[in-house]
Amino acid sequence: MPRHTARFFPSEQTSARRMKLQRFHESHLPELMTWFPDETALKTWGGPEFRFPFTATTFREDAKLASLPTWALVADDGAFAAFGQCYIRVGRCHFGRLAVSPSLRGRGHGTTFIRELARWGTAEFGVDSLSLFVSPGNVRARDLYHRLGFSELPYPDPSFATHSFIYMVATKLAQ
Ligand SMILES: CC(C)(COP(=O)(O)OP(=O)(O)OC[C@H]1O[C@@H](n2cnc3c(N)ncnc32)[C@H](O)[C@@H]1OP(=O)(O)O)[C@@H](O)C(=O)NCCC(=O)NCCS
Repeated sequence: MPRHTARFFPSEQTSARRMKLQRFHESHLPELMTWFPDETALKTWGGPEFRFPFTATTFREDAKLASLPTWALVADDGAFAAFGQCYIRVGRCHFGRLAVSPSLRGRGHGTTFIRELARWGTAEFGVDSLSLFVSPGNVRARDLYHRLGFSELPYPDPSFATHSFIYMVATKLAQ
């Protein structure tokens, strides 16, 4: 199957909805902008330099929508379930700005999305190592990444300002 072709997942055990991975589309932007109710939620997701309050223009710029491979998880009824980016960073397939729609969290969509992004990214970039940043206080996300097999490591470039975000790495996702 071509790498950029949208694909359907098997039916999920906890949801009647079928989900497909597809490239993020500009039409999802207005809804994505509603997922972060305050500055803390926004910066926990988007990083400390993400501008708040935002406009569509600043949001698009700060999320680097034009420069990073950006993906969406979309239900067969059109519901926009998850957002994330996947690119090569210090030799690893790196996930950026992962988020699940607030109304759909806790149903396994984040797990499914990460697995599918990892499948795409490792094939696309020819690496088997995965990475991401997470805010120390983002317990839910951190627990999820640990459960998937990520470990916390120092960022490889000590001169890069990680703004106290934790760098996490995995070579194989836990089943
Ligand atoms: C972090 C985030 C992406 C996780 O997405 P999610 O869809 O809730 O993730 P999952 O459902 O796969 O797993 C998370 C939880 O759901 C539970 N879960 C997993 N599959 C489930 C299922 N089928 N049914 C019910 N619960 C399930 C997990 O046990 C886990 O529970 P816990 O966190 O209470 O221990 C989401 O919470 C989010 O968007 N947060 C805001 C943005 C953010 O912080 N992004 C991370 C930046 S690093």
